[in-house]
Amino acid sequence: INFRRAEFLISAPTLAECPEDTGAEVAFAGRSNAGKSSAINALTDNGKLARTSKTPGRTQLINFFRLSEQQRLVDLPGYGYAKVARSMKDEWQRHLAFYLEQRQCLKGLVLLMDIRQPLKEFDLQMLSWAVNAGLPAHILLTKADKLKNGPANNVRFAVEKELKALELDNNVSVQIFSSPKRKGLEKLEARLNQWLSL
Ligand code: GTP
Ligand code: MG
Repeated sequence: INFRRAEFLISAPTLAECPEDTGAEVAFAGRSNAGKSSAINALTDNGKLARTSKTPGRTQLINFFRLSEQQRLVDLPGYGYAKVARSMKDEWQRHLAFYLEQRQCLKGLVLLMDIRQPLKEFDLQMLSWAVNAGLPAHILLTKADKLKNGPANNVRFAVEKELKALELDNNVSVQIFSSPKRKGLEKLEARLNQWLSL
């Protein structure tokens, strides 16, 4: 797949308004500010494709990007953003669970976590939904440029160990990632190529 060919497709306020459930799709999820939009921009080598921001909660719509007629990337709104009302959060969480479980074209979940604070409560919730739905997940430990290689790898090992202990390691892989350093891009691309093959 030539990820540089990615184009903005549509912003959907709810999952009811997302594109037809055909072909293959991979969703990027994670807490607000984890770096989802930045990762999509690094992957597509297009700094303007997904909007990024220093203010958490930037992406509030579900943004779909097309790679080809039948292949898409999805930038999901971040979770854990304190300023969003509780009722909105509950509603969104129900939607998210439904999307992960019901969307036929969804082939994998890329779950992003800041390497300095991995495996927060809702990350584990997302993972267990994915694992229970039989959906493969790939964890990006983002902002790895904030740590040296040794400590970054130690976090990766600790995360892998914790997932195993929680029995959330089935079909789940973990890697280190940095958008500004473009670190870990080849690994991510390999995973996406595998999931998005038609
Ligand atoms: P929401 O849309 O609010 O859920 O956030 P998001 O997950 O899309 O995060 P976004 O890509 O907007 O990035 C949030 C902030 O983190 C921005 O200031 C980015 O520049 C920064 N950032 C993202 N990825 C990295 C990274 O790998 N390293 C560093 N140092 N900063 C990053
Ligand atoms: Mg975003």
